[in-house]
Amino acid sequence: MKRVSFVAGNWKMNTTRSTAIELARAVVRGAVSGVEIGVAPPFVYLDAVGAALAGSAVKLGAQDVYTEKSGAFTGEISTDMLKDLGVSFVLAGHSERRHVLGEKPDLVSHKARTIYAAGLTLILCVGETLAQRDANETFTVVRTQLGELGTWVTDPQRLVIAYEPVWAIGTGRNATDAQAQEAHAFIRQTLAKTYSPDLADHVRIQYGGSLKPDNANALLAQADVDGGLIGGASLKAESFLAIATAAVAAAR
Ligand code: 13P
Repeated sequence: MKRVSFVAGNWKMNTTRSTAIELARAVVRGAVSGVEIGVAPPFVYLDAVGAALAGSAVKLGAQDVYTEKSGAFTGEISTDMLKDLGVSFVLAGHSERRHVLGEKPDLVSHKARTIYAAGLTLILCVGETLAQRDANETFTVVRTQLGELGTWVTDPQRLVIAYEPVWAIGTGRNATDAQAQEAHAFIRQTLAKTYSPDLADHVRIQYGGSLKPDNANALLAQADVDGGLIGGASLKAESFLAIATAAVAAAR
């Protein structure tokens, strides 16, 4: 089936208020049709970036969220707060949160369920470390991480999986086209078993990890690759939009 690709920029802990607004405006100016485009700025710039995106088709995303609605959770942010600012998609399980900030599978799973239950689009990030790939554990790791979804997903439009091999993130070493396709096909098969072939067929699976304009054409042309989750290259409108354009070309 034809899925509309989703290209999302994860700005991580980058930009200033003014460069974030400038970047958002440049993305709006250059946005192409035929692909869903979104940006996830740091929390503190969500409001300003949301204003810069207003009236455009570019979606606003958040990099994280907490599991509770409100209360004594110093430093945390709720789904209601994100929705208040016009956020439509939220990441859970990014490798930096798993491996740098120490988030455990239970917390990732709880966050994923919270995002989905709030009516937002969930991007669940999965992917193996280099040691796990070398030990032939890629499929086992990815299957276990997909298990964090439970069985509560009913709307495939609000579930996106980002396959981001940890060894490819920020390293300049992307997965090969074949490695990406193999992992993506495995993810789709796993979703088909957990949910249904029909649901699995509709879910977008993004590739992430050193995705750049010069490798985007080939990676995004893989049958089970439905766009990308982009770090470094999303911090410049030109490279981010070149990847979005590659996603449109790949869909033809
Ligand atoms: P890079 O594109 O910088 O490798 O980061 C990928 C990523 O982690 C996106 O979430």
